[in-house]
Amino acid sequence: MTAMQHVSLGAHYAVHLPAPDDFAFWCERARGLVQGDVPPDRVSWIEPGGTGDLFASEGHQGSLARGEKRLPPPPADPRPVRASQRFLTVARSAALHSERTRFGLLYRLLWRLQSNPRLMEDTADPEVRRCEELAKAVRRDAHKMHAFVRFREVIEEDGTPHFVAWFEPDHHILRAEAGFFIRRFANMRWSILTPRGSIHWDGETMREGPPARREDAPQGDPVEALWRSYYASIFNPARLKVGAMLSEMPKKYWKNLPEAELIPQLIAGAQARETAMVTAGARAERARPASLAEVAQGAGACRDCGIADCGTRAVAGEGLPGAPLMIIGEQPGDEEDQAGRPFVGPAGQLLDDHLARAGIEREAAYVTNAVKHFKFTWKGKHRLHQSPGAKEIDTCRWWLEAERSLVRPRIVLALGASAARGLLGRTVSVTRERGRAIRLDDGAELWVTVHPSYLLRLDGAARAEQAALFSADLAAVQARLAALTG
Ligand code: URA
Repeated sequence: MTAMQHVSLGAHYAVHLPAPDDFAFWCERARGLVQGDVPPDRVSWIEPGGTGDLFASEGHQGSLARGEKRLPPPPADPRPVRASQRFLTVARSAALHSERTRFGLLYRLLWRLQSNPRLMEDTADPEVRRCEELAKAVRRDAHKMHAFVRFREVIEEDGTPHFVAWFEPDHHILRAEAGFFIRRFANMRWSILTPRGSIHWDGETMREGPPARREDAPQGDPVEALWRSYYASIFNPARLKVGAMLSEMPKKYWKNLPEAELIPQLIAGAQARETAMVTAGARAERARPASLAEVAQGAGACRDCGIADCGTRAVAGEGLPGAPLMIIGEQPGDEEDQAGRPFVGPAGQLLDDHLARAGIEREAAYVTNAVKHFKFTWKGKHRLHQSPGAKEIDTCRWWLEAERSLVRPRIVLALGASAARGLLGRTVSVTRERGRAIRLDDGAELWVTVHPSYLLRLDGAARAEQAALFSADLAAVQARLAALTG
């Protein structure tokens, strides 16, 4: 027998999941199995409607057939089960994939994490990669659902409007994405019907319903006209790449979109409209977020530039509205992308040291980035940072401005040229601008200095010299902050 053959000599267990998207149930059972020392090759994970395992079945389904095994009882002194935050984040999405083998894959990873807690960082590992791929496919499906669900209005017998949409998700995302629609259309009565199930919102509570057919959803009505004009006005020619559009918007969705018939004419006029639209602020069509939580959510779903498709998530700013100081970096790095927090990696540690030395309390500031997603390229198994381009910074500026208008800081500290561009919308020379205030439209002051990563790239005397200048910039900001805030 070779080492690659997995032949189980012990009992075989089958776990029946109550629903195909029940990640919490999977977690609970997987924890018990790890604690009971049951290796992955002795467990089958069975979804509702899936065929049982020949060898065994879990007890919770009722009576046991001949040869079946109950899950092992929890040990008297169960050992803690290790699962990194990264694993949980990726697994939560991957569990919603429609591939039948996903729960087995997740259990194999959880099993391996017990002896290798950093397993998820090994992005060359085929199982880690596969799990990331599944999670990414699920995130894309969710993004498509956000973008392509279209409600048609039906008037109910009692005269109230009911908005009904038809959508065909590839994965089990319906329940997970319900909150997105509840937040957006909280005051409407609506239903989303899909071949996997349906959800209904009456303005107060959500109800789940059975799978539906396309014919169950109403077709054309006046809401279509509204969507057409809305879509024509928000159509973003800057992103127009026909190949990319086809992969973003597979033909299967086109038939559900009233605006799809506008696409040929929109493409024809696209290039000519690009510059005009960018300067005219096409974003005006998007409602301004009313809270920092809405910025975080909106930036997370934003696909206005290509960066969002690379990283794990948007990294939102951290801090409270009313913070007197807003600190802006360039974009999250590898560690920030994984942790979902700004400036937690090496540049963040250096920044923290310098802030502390200058007497600036990071916790009292609002810390964010000019670009909210991590842009990188693969080098072997490492994700190498790539600087965002001017267009990407300008595209993300909308979110930065939304943050600034909610936080209303007295002083904004831009770390590096990308951060300064994010604020001013133009190229900024750090050498020329550092050490003095630039007045912003709302009276706040912008102070520009270098990015801490710049210091990390220097050695010896050059590093010491630049660190001293950086410290001096921060001290000037602290002095000004004290003067402004008393
Ligand atoms: N560099 C940045 O600009 N921002 C971060 O959050 C981390 C590193």
